[in-house]
Amino acid sequence: MNLSLNALNRFVRRTTVTAACLVAVGVSGVSMANDAVEGSIEAGREKISMCIGCHAIPGYKTAFPEVYSVPMIAGQNEQYLIIALRAYATGERSHPSMNAISGSLTEQDMADLAAYYANLK
Ligand code: HEC
Repeated sequence: MNLSLNALNRFVRRTTVTAACLVAVGVSGVSMANDAVEGSIEAGREKISMCIGCHAIPGYKTAFPEVYSVPMIAGQNEQYLIIALRAYATGERSHPSMNAISGSLTEQDMADLAAYYANLK
């Protein structure tokens, strides 16, 4: 009885460690769509200073390096925003300013910003 309990304990400990490793791999995999990182609206609000120059102005067009219409991201679907930011970060989606900006964001930053913008009316 004691023996098998010990074996069970070892098994449980090992599977817990394995699960923790899998979660860590998922978080660091930039292209993976997962919800492992919880976005915070409050934290997002602290991070928008690098976005509002372009995204806060209705009908705004960037003047450099080319003229682009800046999309409305307020009220946009949260998952969509995260996926868009990841796509710019990996270069899958290309736009000079967005590639540069998203490349400096962590998964947590993206989740926070997405939570903030998705909840903006
Ligand atoms: C220099 C201006 C500029 C800044 C600063 C900027 N963006 Fe953008 N953003 C753009 C432009 C222009 C596009 C459209 C690019 C394209 O055509 O793919 C865009 C696209 C996006 C998209 C995709 C929207 C869609 O409808 O698919 C998201 C999401 C986004 N930006 C989020 C952010 C966030 C979050 C920040 C701050 C961390 C930020 N942007 C900072 C100009 C900017």
